[in-house]
Amino acid sequence: MQEFSEFEPLLSRSVQEKNLEFQRHGRLKHLIAASQLTPELLEKLCRSADLIRRLSRNPEGNRRLRDLLAHKRAMLYFTQPSTRTFLSFMAACQILGLSCNEVRDPKTSSEVKRESRMDSIRMFSSYFDVIIMRSQISNFAECCAYLMSDLERQERRSVPIVNAGAGSDEHPTQALLDMYTIIRTFDFDENSESRPSRLNELRRSFPSLICGPSQKTYTFCGDIGRGRTVRSLATVLSQYEGTRMIFVSPEHDVLVMDEELRQRLKMTGVEFYEVNSLDAEIDGESVLGQTDCLYMTRIQREHNSKDTEQEIAEIDLSPFLLSPQRVGVLKSYAPILHPFPRDSVVGEIPTSIDSDPRAMYFRQARNGMWARAALLVHLFDAADSLFFAYSDVFRSPK
Ligand code: NCD
Repeated sequence: MQEFSEFEPLLSRSVQEKNLEFQRHGRLKHLIAASQLTPELLEKLCRSADLIRRLSRNPEGNRRLRDLLAHKRAMLYFTQPSTRTFLSFMAACQILGLSCNEVRDPKTSSEVKRESRMDSIRMFSSYFDVIIMRSQISNFAECCAYLMSDLERQERRSVPIVNAGAGSDEHPTQALLDMYTIIRTFDFDENSESRPSRLNELRRSFPSLICGPSQKTYTFCGDIGRGRTVRSLATVLSQYEGTRMIFVSPEHDVLVMDEELRQRLKMTGVEFYEVNSLDAEIDGESVLGQTDCLYMTRIQREHNSKDTEQEIAEIDLSPFLLSPQRVGVLKSYAPILHPFPRDSVVGEIPTSIDSDPRAMYFRQARNGMWARAALLVHLFDAADSLFFAYSDVFRSPK
């Protein structure tokens, strides 16, 4: 895009180089890409999310949380439709006392007066302390982070940029909440405080199952080609030891995994397979039978071009839909995730599955609030203050 051409040399650098620019002394300055979410950082963020979740159950805890970032202001700049990401970020801000404002329709901003998007962002950064943004333009958030770096070099005001969904490319904060859900689900630690009974019970039935996200098979089903949540989560999971991934999608060019993600996964050496039905077999065993965690997604129709619209409409989607029979093949502990929204017409997850104990998607959405609050705490370097608040509240019986 012409508007971003000055950033071209920066955009074409290696992931490592870019990620170095987006952090300082191991702490994120901006969250642009899922590859920034390393296992070490996720551990810290999940710990903060746990503290926030527990504090929020307690009136004094709530008060302490609201004081944490009461001096900060957030801009939610969402020019692409969003329900969960927008609302959970707003709820996260409210939990932490941040005040926030929103622009959801660029027609109500000075973009109609031909203001460039970059000028709009710089204006937001004058009034707010963090910009959380979603756009259909893949590189926009990344370019905004470069603008901020540039301003920082000039010793001018610069604020963190959070990518809340970029085109069909990246959705790192969704990967963050997906990982928080996975980590909570596979928390079989004997001494673990969280929901010990059912999970530890299951742990005994599956002694080879280890704690945490490593050594597990993740199956992704649906629109693998255009699902930014799949791309971001697969990138994060590939950093854990011994993960296997199975991608289930119709064999249409735009729906199968794109070459960029295929190469990205190959570079990490992760074992992955691509199949065209949930009933497929790999090494003589059914895909669902070997799945430790199932990640369903919808077909992203809004990205259809005129040419593909008809072709995609003609695809038989039945091999990509969950049914009670298919859920019956899944392991008894295997969580079923979905970033949502689910497609109520296609029905990739029928509502009859919602009462299954493995259906985690509503809890996953709620986890978004805790995980995003933890991210804000991290960006504003308030993890220590959060920890002190937690120790205070739970030490003194109030
Ligand atoms: C996803 C998104 O926007 O990419 N939704 C979300 O953020 N929870 C997935 C989707 O729209 O299918």
